[in-house]
Formats: sequence, C-alpha cells, structure tokens
Amino acid sequence: MSGGFDLSGDLGPNGRHVRESLSAKCARSRDLTSRTKELMNMGSAASLEMPYPVLIERSDGPYLWDVDGNRYIDFQVGFGAMVLGHRHPAVQSAVEEQIHERGWHFGLHNPSQVPMAEQFIKADNCVERVIFCNTGTESTMYAIRAARAFSGKPKIAVFEGSYHGAHDYGIGRSDPASPADAPIFRSVGAGVLPAVEDYQIMLPYRSRAAFDIIRDNADDLAVVIIECAQSSNPHMNDEVGEFLHELRAACADSGVLFMTDEVITGFRFAYGGAQEHYGLKPDLATYGKIIGGGMPAGAVGGRADIMAVFNSMALGDPKGIMSGGTFSGNPLTMAAGLAQLRYLDEYRDAVYPHLNGQGQRLADEINQYTRSENMAAQVLNAGSMFQIYFKAGEIRTARDLNPMRPPAETEFYLHLLDNGVLVPGTRRSCVSFAHSRDDIGEAIGIVKRCLDLVREDGLL
Ligand SMILES: Cc1ncc(COP(=O)(O)O)c(C=O)c1O
Repeated sequence: MSGGFDLSGDLGPNGRHVRESLSAKCARSRDLTSRTKELMNMGSAASLEMPYPVLIERSDGPYLWDVDGNRYIDFQVGFGAMVLGHRHPAVQSAVEEQIHERGWHFGLHNPSQVPMAEQFIKADNCVERVIFCNTGTESTMYAIRAARAFSGKPKIAVFEGSYHGAHDYGIGRSDPASPADAPIFRSVGAGVLPAVEDYQIMLPYRSRAAFDIIRDNADDLAVVIIECAQSSNPHMNDEVGEFLHELRAACADSGVLFMTDEVITGFRFAYGGAQEHYGLKPDLATYGKIIGGGMPAGAVGGRADIMAVFNSMALGDPKGIMSGGTFSGNPLTMAAGLAQLRYLDEYRDAVYPHLNGQGQRLADEINQYTRSENMAAQVLNAGSMFQIYFKAGEIRTARDLNPMRPPAETEFYLHLLDNGVLVPGTRRSCVSFAHSRDDIGEAIGIVKRCLDLVREDGLL
C-alpha cells in the first residue's frame, strides 16, 4: 500500500508512478480525508468519488489550490455555478459590500429580490413570475408540486439519462431489462417509497416513441421535464433542437405541462439559457447554480397562471401549494447572484462566444487527437459543458454509455489530477469565462499527454 493505493496489483509503470506521485504530493489531503471519514458520513462528497481525495483550500479565477499547495486548472467550477470563474471581482465586491454595509437577515423580503426577478423575466421566454429557493433540487421539487397542483394530475415524466436533483422524483434509472423505446423508471438507492415508481414515467431520450407515451398517459400526466442538454451525455445540435420543439408540441397537444430544467443550462448556453438557444417556450423552468453567483440558490419561473399556485394557499385556494424556507432569496445570495447575472447580461457578447467557443475547441482538438491516434476515447460537449468518455462509436443517449468505468478511464483521471487538471468525480465538466485561451490550450496538451500515458500502459 502507498498513500491509500494498493500497488500490489497488475499496474503498468505509469500507473504505479502516478499513484506514488499523488501519494507524495497530496499527503495533507490524505491525512485530513482520513479524519473526515472518522467524523462525517460523506454524503455527496463520498459519492462523487474523486480519483484521489484532494481537499481544496483556495480558489481564484480558473484555478484551485489544495491543502498541500498544488494548483489545478479547474473544470469542476462549482458543478457549473462559477460561470465567471472563482472570486470574480464583480461578484466578490457585491458580496463584500452586502456583508460590510448592510449585513444579512433571513425569512423576510429584501430589495435585491426585485432586480433579481427582473433579470429572469428579461432573460427567459417563459418566465412571467419567479420564486426563489436554495438549490436546484429544491427548484425541481417545487416545480413538480406546482405542476401537480395546477393540473390536478399525479404523474410526472422524466427522460432516461436525466438528473433533476436529489429528491425522490429527481433521480431515477431505467430498468436495464426494459426496452430502449419504453424504459421503465426505477428509483435510485434505498429509502424511497415504492409508490414513487407508480407516479414516475421514464421517457426514451431523442426518440419519437416518447411522444406516444405522453399521449397515452395524458389523462394522468401533469408535466414532462427535460434537461435541454443532458449532463450525462451533453449534446447541443439541430437534431436535439428539433426534438425539443416536437416534444413541446406533443405536450401542448396532450394538455401536459412542459418544463425545462435549466439548473445547468440557464445563463450558460446563452443569457436566456437553452430557451434562448433553441427558441423554446416551456410552461415552467427551474434554475440553480449560476443564479447564486456561488451562493446556494434555486428558482422556479414560468407562466403567471401556473406560478399563481405559489401564493394562493394562504388565500384558501385549493390549488395553492406549500413552499418557503428560512434562507430562500436571502440577501447574500441575491447580492452575489445579481452581480453575476448583471455581468453576464452586460458582457453577454463577450462571455457566450468565449464559453461556447472554448468548449467546442476543447472537444474538437481532443477528438481530432483520439481519432488520429485511434484511441477509444471521445469528448461530448454542449457548448461549455463537456465530458471525456472512454468508448468508441457514437454516444447518442445514456443507453450508449458504459455501465462500468473501464480501467483506462480510472487511470486517465489519476494522471489528469497528477498533471494539474481537476474535473469532478462525476466527470461532468464546464469551461468558465475565467479560462483563458492559454488555459484551455494548456489543458488540451495535458489531456493528450495523459491519454498517451494510459496507452503506454497498454490500456487504450
Ligand atoms: C439538471 C439539474 N437539475 C437539478 C440539479 C440539482 O441541483 P443542486 O445540486 O443545486 O441541488 C442538478 C445538479 O447538478 C442538475 O444538473
């Protein structure tokens, strides 16, 4: 054993070297991780499975530093939240001003909520009204409740390969034995009531068979929810756009609400998110990540008549729903989020071409390399969202992904970390506006080198 690694197995020389290197240079991270394991059940941190458990102490622009002082080019970017990079001056000064000049309080309205709501209404096609909450998970939970209350129908439909948050209705897997054009929803993990599966429909992604399922269930189906680019297999192309528009029409024809989950894509694809990019007008949309400027945030926006269910419970309306939370719309989150959204709005002509252009460049250059070297690896990207997959052949939907991570993938991510590029344990990565062309060029060079190291060990 060395630094938590078992070196007795069948490792190639590069595999052995990378483990020794990480063990030596991340000693403090390792010690602190052992201590955290004694104190905490790690929750998301454990399930995110970093290639090696580095603890991050400091962030700036496109970089992170761990507790041992190692610097990384960061493509985790707060799971997409830090679209301007870390400690962007506009966001930092707004937070400092709020702390020093006005302080913070909870559970009461504050004046920053007004311009914040105005940014949403200005940005997105569907948003006539908005409510704030604290995470993307909360936003989809509330939106689902609102859709059920408004429609009076119990079921919701999500797509195979999607993720909509950690609550019972946000995450499901398809039964692997179920047919590709009629996947069956299965809850993930223990502790979820079996009845949840009775009210969830799973739809096949990028398949017109989904429209028939929607029509057949129209009487019971409150809402269809979709990520306009699935983070499990990001695509951004005309065919996806066509599918989204046909889906929107199928929902409208069936009297089923159509909701886009813009927790990642909102204010990332374009200022108006996927709705602007594809010219879509959903009934409801959910947000998180970017809208908090690095503070925990979520929001639901949509048609005024649907959104009315959020304030009518107190008025005795039978369609009124329960919502609310101590920290929802709090002044620190509003200050940080508003600063980030205002910057994105003002500089959108610079920001979005950079995000989408550098994401595309990264994908194109790596794909060119893996093709020319005949390596079974490829990058999928939807603008600035990207992921490296260790698989040859087309990946159209989550069905085409490897159910198990191949050894080449494990080795590659160890090398990547050792060479100073950090991606999250989910492997789902994003470019930020703080990544310069040089940072992206450096990262592409490192990716190619790491692929070579894996190949030298005979794994690629
Ligand atoms: C599309 C989508 N919806 C919802 C969520 C949940 O957001 P949060 O992690 O803020 O709860 C995520 C998180 O990654 C997401 O990607």
